Amino acid sequence: MREASIARSQAYAPYSNFSVGCALLLENGVVIRGNNQENAAYPSGLCAERVAIFAAGANYPGVAMVKMAITAGPVGSKFDKPVPPCGACRQSMVEYESRQEKSIELFFMGAVGKVARSRSLSDLLPLIFDNKYL
Ligand code: THU
Repeated sequence: MREASIARSQAYAPYSNFSVGCALLLENGVVIRGNNQENAAYPSGLCAERVAIFAAGANYPGVAMVKMAITAGPVGSKFDKPVPPCGACRQSMVEYESRQEKSIELFFMGAVGKVARSRSLSDLLPLIFDNKYL
């Protein structure tokens, strides 16, 4: 969460003013930070979680993802409800979980307050569409 907070402080979210930071721990001990990257053409931006997992996939191919911490909320607020990853991020992340055949644990919080935990992506996104259908 400390790493996720640093990532959040570096988010680029001038349009929504909702900053998200995450930290992804890999099996080799490397921690990848991600934050939301917005764009004047709104749909061209990307969520923090996908920034992190795609950076991991690009730079550490084949290294398992162990856990991710996420912190999010309106910039400058004391938002205290745990913020779970959006559906598109869940789908993107579950691809890596099913590929590595090991759960990715998730911890998520608001800007302050309680941390929620999920044992795996598939717990957050049951009945996933993955490569067994292709
Ligand atoms: N956002 C994330 O970074 N992760 C999520 O799981 C949900 C939403 C970002 C996208 C956008 O920059 C801002 O939060 C408001 O939706």
